[in-house]
Amino acid sequence: MDGPRAPKENELPKVLEFLNTNLRPNSNWSIASEYPTALSPSNIGNIRIITEGNTVLSHAVLKPLIIKTPAIVFKVGAIGSVVTDTQRRGQGLSQQILKECLAEAERQECDVALLWTNLYDFYRKLNFELAAFEESIVLDKEFNANSSSLKFMQDTHVSAEAIHRLYNQHTVGSVRNVADVRKFLSIPNTLLYTAWDAQGQLTAYAVEGKGADLNGYIHEWGGSVSNLLALFSWIRKEKKTPFTIILGQHSLNLITALKAIPGATHNEGYLGMIKMTREKQLFGKIKRAARSLGIADLVLEKIDEQYRLGVGTDVIEFTDEKDMVRAIFGPLPEIPNLKPETMKTLEKVLPVNLWIWGWDSI
Ligand SMILES: CC(C)(COP(=O)(O)OP(=O)(O)OC[C@H]1O[C@@H](n2cnc3c(N)ncnc32)[C@H](O)[C@@H]1OP(=O)(O)O)[C@@H](O)C(=O)NCCC(=O)NCCS
Repeated sequence: MDGPRAPKENELPKVLEFLNTNLRPNSNWSIASEYPTALSPSNIGNIRIITEGNTVLSHAVLKPLIIKTPAIVFKVGAIGSVVTDTQRRGQGLSQQILKECLAEAERQECDVALLWTNLYDFYRKLNFELAAFEESIVLDKEFNANSSSLKFMQDTHVSAEAIHRLYNQHTVGSVRNVADVRKFLSIPNTLLYTAWDAQGQLTAYAVEGKGADLNGYIHEWGGSVSNLLALFSWIRKEKKTPFTIILGQHSLNLITALKAIPGATHNEGYLGMIKMTREKQLFGKIKRAARSLGIADLVLEKIDEQYRLGVGTDVIEFTDEKDMVRAIFGPLPEIPNLKPETMKTLEKVLPVNLWIWGWDSI
């Protein structure tokens, strides 16, 4: 057996064939078109495979993302397309590949690794934990919103520059360029809904679907709250069926407005499974953000295999890194051993905001 290692350029077609056979047996497109920035020649150094002779046995891909938030800029290693040949499962191949992806994430100074899965116990073995928040709102019924002078359409033939301009108004999100947006717009099964003002300017957009995933889910959107409400109202009337909007917790005004729509239902879930890859660097970033809020004595550290969390001398210690992931990204567990004033101070800093838009999920 050879690997875990990055494929050579001439092996990429074989790797994609392995992924298509195992992960997309019923699709008439290649999985590479669903993840155009991850499963691409430009990211080949972050793909890991194990091979035997000419055969690919196991695979995973790492896609480093820079995520800007108002307080902290994170580097996040998204991991996806984790799969082992059906005949070779249960031999530790995926664990080997994932460990190598995590080592690569660390080498590239990612603060955390993040993945989307329902195999919670499989990933908990590697100390991933469900963490950070994802809000979802289902629009069950048609509703009216003020849409005076706006025009709507559903078509992906829209300037990537215009989408990118609105995307850049988000306070939390990955750093993207126009070429990335152009690639994302070509993902199979993408429905792009847009709203235009009387001058022909794009004022809001919403993206539903992404290859085999996220049908019925709006996972990317941009524009002002009022223009987005008008767009969602139009989409609901056009579709004639309920759909779900996914949002980060920081989108407070839009969440409030959507919750107020009659018949809207709201759910809170997790962003994904997260594992710290550069703990010291991550703790440093959070402590710097705390200092900018006037909190100079936040304790967030690891000493001799013990994680320490608190303020000043009021500190708790624990050994499971998954508890630290929850403390940092939420939901912050009840910590009865800390004084109420310490919890109050901690809650000014934690959980930190982390959000990944749908096009970045792999
Ligand atoms: C999940 C998958 C990648 C695991 O690959 P693998 O090479 O068999 O995994 P490993 O042999 O490294 O497994 C290591 C451990 O995880 C456990 N494990 C494997 N599959 C698991 C599952 N579905 N749920 C929980 N634990 C699982 C194994 O029992 C083993 O545990 P042990 O070390 O305590 O004995 C493989 O089953 C697969 O390709 N599934 C289909 C694609 C898929 O679902 N991918 C995950 C998408 S997020």
